[in-house]
Amino acid sequence: MEDKFSDLRINAERFQQDFEAISHIGSSGDGGVDRPAFSDAHLAARTWFRQRIEDAGLTFRLDGAGNHSGFLKCSAENAPTLLLGSHLDSVPKGGRFDGALGVLAALEVLRVIHEAGLHLPTNLEAIDFSDEEGRLVGLMGSNAVAGSLSEKDLAKPAGGRSALLDGLLRAGLNEAGILSAKRDPSTLAGFLELHIEQGPRLEQESLDIGVVTTMTGICLYNLKFTGRADHSGTTPMHQRLDASLGASNFVLSASTMVTEKFLNCTVNVGSIELMPGASNIVPQCASLILELRAPELDTLNRLESTLLELANHKAGYHKLKLEAEFIEKHPPNTMDIGVQGVIRNAASSLGLSHINLYSGAFHDAEVIARICPAGMIFVPSQGGASHSPREFTPWKDCMNGANVLLNATLRLATSQIN
Ligand code: GLV
Ligand code: MN
Ligand code: MN
Repeated sequence: MEDKFSDLRINAERFQQDFEAISHIGSSGDGGVDRPAFSDAHLAARTWFRQRIEDAGLTFRLDGAGNHSGFLKCSAENAPTLLLGSHLDSVPKGGRFDGALGVLAALEVLRVIHEAGLHLPTNLEAIDFSDEEGRLVGLMGSNAVAGSLSEKDLAKPAGGRSALLDGLLRAGLNEAGILSAKRDPSTLAGFLELHIEQGPRLEQESLDIGVVTTMTGICLYNLKFTGRADHSGTTPMHQRLDASLGASNFVLSASTMVTEKFLNCTVNVGSIELMPGASNIVPQCASLILELRAPELDTLNRLESTLLELANHKAGYHKLKLEAEFIEKHPPNTMDIGVQGVIRNAASSLGLSHINLYSGAFHDAEVIARICPAGMIFVPSQGGASHSPREFTPWKDCMNGANVLLNATLRLATSQIN
């Protein structure tokens, strides 16, 4: 890389001030943030980001899916755009690093390059994708950009139809707008996302940077076990059709099965609802959300059919009816080999140790990889904690990640793929 580029570094003080400012928006008071998509806190974070973009003299852009971005145009006409970014929404009561770190690092990269007056042959765009965490529609912003959403997906969104309509109204968006956010792949030079690892490996091995190779496949179902409501005190135990038994037996057996038979895969039941839901009624229905993840498509398919069979078996065992409603499925995706090489070279040139990593978490980069070369840079997560206020990454590691993002951006923007 040319010398005038290799000396460029993130402005540490400004980056940290921004990170502290965004961490206060929706702060849950225990080190975490509560910023689900289009909540008041999320809308406030988006407004703050817009202001920072405008303060930096970058062009603010908003697309129909609510993605916010800062744009730095290059002097060449019809140049492609290199996207950098992540998301400002969080899971309910989540951590302050997941997503926000990558958005602020992207903004900082654009500011540093803008201030240095570099003339790159590529436009740069720092983007905050809407609803990455899938409160309304799984990875709504990046899926819209990739053209992976249809009217059908919006008619039956993961978070329910009324939550979607309410969220869109709050953000001043509409369904037609979401579909219009699709980008022409030929306008994109690539995508880079900096993110915390959300797992323990980098910390355990005392490594600075993870270069993401593959990202997990994921599949979601609603399972509903139905039995019969009865009086809890007068119905003999052996005469009950208790829906909670089918659900809990399934949850325990699914966990054991995946632990023992599906290496590198996960199953999670993050929500269970019992109905009618009173202490003195035998539960008639148990509805749960089943999430499964696997690193290869074949394994994901096998895991899906095995777990559905297990749910059927448990329903039959407890004399319950089972309804399995498919919600969504995303196949695993590989990060671009050339971009992986760029990230490795960027880390090495900064004297940082690195390793290839598989990501068990889902990210916008997985979706954007469908339309252009994409890559991800991971930095260590203390104790591997994430989706929790315990999420923490030492500032030195955040700075390392942001400088790798800057260095990799310069390499990609000037087409130094290797
Ligand atoms: C995104 O955070 C995921 O659920 O993996
Ligand atoms: Mn997350
Ligand atoms: Mn994230």
